[in-house]
Amino acid sequence: MRLLVLGGTVFLSRAVAEAALARGHDVTTVSRGTSGRPPSGARHVTADRAAPLPRELTQTAFDAVVDVSSRPSHVRSALERLSHAHWVYVSSVSVYADDATPGGGPGILPLHRPLWDDSDDMADYGPLKAGCEQLVAEAAASHAVVRPGLIVGPGDRSGRFAYWVDRLRHAADGEVVLAPGNPHDLVQFVDVRDLGAWIALLAERSTTGVRDAISPPLTIGDVLDQVAAGCGARPRWRWATDEQLRGLGIRPWMGPRSLPLGLPRPDYDGMQTHLPAPAREAGLRIRPVADTARDTRAWLDGTPHAAITGLTADEEREALASLG
Ligand SMILES: NC(=O)c1ccc[n+]([C@@H]2O[C@H](COP(=O)([O-])OP(=O)(O)OC[C@H]3O[C@@H](n4cnc5c(N)ncnc54)[C@H](OP(=O)(O)O)[C@@H]3O)[C@@H](O)[C@H]2O)c1
Repeated sequence: MRLLVLGGTVFLSRAVAEAALARGHDVTTVSRGTSGRPPSGARHVTADRAAPLPRELTQTAFDAVVDVSSRPSHVRSALERLSHAHWVYVSSVSVYADDATPGGGPGILPLHRPLWDDSDDMADYGPLKAGCEQLVAEAAASHAVVRPGLIVGPGDRSGRFAYWVDRLRHAADGEVVLAPGNPHDLVQFVDVRDLGAWIALLAERSTTGVRDAISPPLTIGDVLDQVAAGCGARPRWRWATDEQLRGLGIRPWMGPRSLPLGLPRPDYDGMQTHLPAPAREAGLRIRPVADTARDTRAWLDGTPHAAITGLTADEEREALASLG
């Protein structure tokens, strides 16, 4: 397969390029060259998608295109030149307008109204992804849409899963660690390497259809225990309810003064319980959480300036003291 990865130099799109190369495919990556480097073995073309794609790309007959962009103008412009190929468009579960209903997925949950004009407002992320999905559906010769939930693993620039790995790699034996919500709350995510391998497979097989890209739901208690195991840590968890965390000014999900992965329940019961079966049936294979944690730890150990979001050590200490 001649595969064009629009991106290919960071995190997920790089994992797609790596997986396709490992399967013996001819891979071309395209980026401005500001965020990272392509995997070795890929042909790289430096270009800014704000301008039409360079001729050298439009003269190659690619079999498949993978695009991760959230900018409708970039997707539209690439489709004008590459619509003959099989497209795999990387969207997000953020296209859904319902985060509360458990067991959702394509055709079950309502979508945000699509946006077709570029926007840098994070509040428009879901509508932009919905708009890009439609552009691909209308123009590509054939296509698949992949809607990932939280993507984790080595190279993650959002620092959410990495918060827990970082916290636990520094935890002493038996240390008390603050944890969000109820240990039975369900959470879902996908390792970037599993997702990259699956997207490469969808491109190779010209698989069509829309699927969420996510692991089976696990309890957050189990996940944090597996992260601890992957880091060789034996913490004692101090679970704090949503109400207690709110009272302490601790935010959910991500950002400064947050406890990453925690989400208020039942408002977000659905966002963490999408149906995993359609992706599994189409070839997505999920590795154990402890493996993701171990490899994320190795990546953090070798990446001193990796982004970590969440509570500082002082903030956690103060919160634990207040909770008693
Ligand atoms: N992280 C999550 O938990 C999560 C969850 C759900 C869905 N997603 C989706 O998963 C995908 C992640 O993709 P990713 O990891 O590859 O990260 P990304 O940040 O979306 O990757 C962007 C890639 O495109 C290139 N690029 C950006 N702007 C460009 C431009 N103007 N012209 C040419 N190239 C440009 C970047 O390189 P340069 O900057 O060097 O140009 C980079 O290679 C996205 O679609 C995201 O929306 C993420």
